[in-house]
Amino acid sequence: MIFGFFALLSTFISAETTTSEVTRDYCSLPDPIYADGVSAADFGATGWSYTNAANWADFVVTCGGSFQSPIDIITSGTTQEAVQPQINYQSKDAAVGYEEANKPYTKEYEGEYSEIEVTDASGSIIRYYAKQFHIHTPSEHTIDGKYYDLEIHFVHQAIQDDEQDCNKVKNKLTVFGLMFQESQSAVDYDVFKPWFDSNATGEVESFDLNDFFQKMSDTTYYHYNGSLTTLPCSQTVNWVVFQQPLPISSTQLKQFQDFLSDSTLFPIKHNNRPIQHLNGRKILKGTAITASVSEIPDVEASFVQTLSMAIMIMNILIQ
Ligand SMILES: *[C@@H]1O[C@H](CO)[C@@H](O)[C@H](O)[C@H]1NC(C)=O
Ligand SMILES: *[C@@H]1O[C@H](CO)[C@@H](O)[C@H](O)[C@H]1NC(C)=O
Ligand SMILES: [Zn+2]
Repeated sequence: MIFGFFALLSTFISAETTTSEVTRDYCSLPDPIYADGVSAADFGATGWSYTNAANWADFVVTCGGSFQSPIDIITSGTTQEAVQPQINYQSKDAAVGYEEANKPYTKEYEGEYSEIEVTDASGSIIRYYAKQFHIHTPSEHTIDGKYYDLEIHFVHQAIQDDEQDCNKVKNKLTVFGLMFQESQSAVDYDVFKPWFDSNATGEVESFDLNDFFQKMSDTTYYHYNGSLTTLPCSQTVNWVVFQQPLPISSTQLKQFQDFLSDSTLFPIKHNNRPIQHLNGRKILKGTAITASVSEIPDVEASFVQTLSMAIMIMNILIQ
């Protein structure tokens, strides 16, 4: 039995497919349970906000469920996870990219990116595409009660295709949470610039998801079953929250904070949902192995996948 997850480099975006349009089909999320009289159309800017976060269950019943996020991660109560996950996305190529999404309540890039494989607690391997990432400030999760200045969520949604039966996927989403803390020595992240540069097109020209993980000297993470932290609060998220905060410059942190203060949407100047009850859920702790290179030429991709597969099989064998 494998209690854990791991991510593998994939050749799905290979030399053969990069020149044509990439089609993505995702497993659909479970239908949220709406409170009477509230329709999906109310999920716009006006239906809910961070000022009425205590009452989101009035909009969608699911938001009052027992497996909600975010949570406070009490590290002394965690259990060691059995596998060492690999985080190794294939580099983005010209045919896929991220574009700025028009979300009133966060800064978000949506796009088409690498596939990862994640093992759920029953040992089944689930395949996901990285789909979007967005920010919260201050952080949503806390670690031993501590808030960080910013938290990024990398959202991966299960792939629907001939090889994967969505009915067998419990957690249709796997979300990586990365903390950021203001630092005088931090260098601005290029990938955040299009969000605030009035001359930018809103497209990220060159960006590798591995970059963030490669900046961590300690890849300890916490893993638990939870939910979306915005409506409709679907309880279908395999959460993986990394412990070590990455540095963010005062300039870039202020850009995010100003975005929140510059709107009637954010009278309280934050977009983090309050901490939810753990309700007896288990929190697993582990250490991820991150990619050692950020650019992998196509010709070597299948070799690296073979290597990843070998490491994966070894992981299974040593359980
Ligand atoms: C936008 O472009 C103009 C003209 O090239 C330049 O002067 C200005 O500094 C740019 N603004 C930003 C925010 O980069
Ligand atoms: C998530 O819930 C399932 C049962 O529904 C359980 O088997 C699994 O261990 C849980 N995952 C974590 C990380 O606790
Ligand atoms: Zn989020």
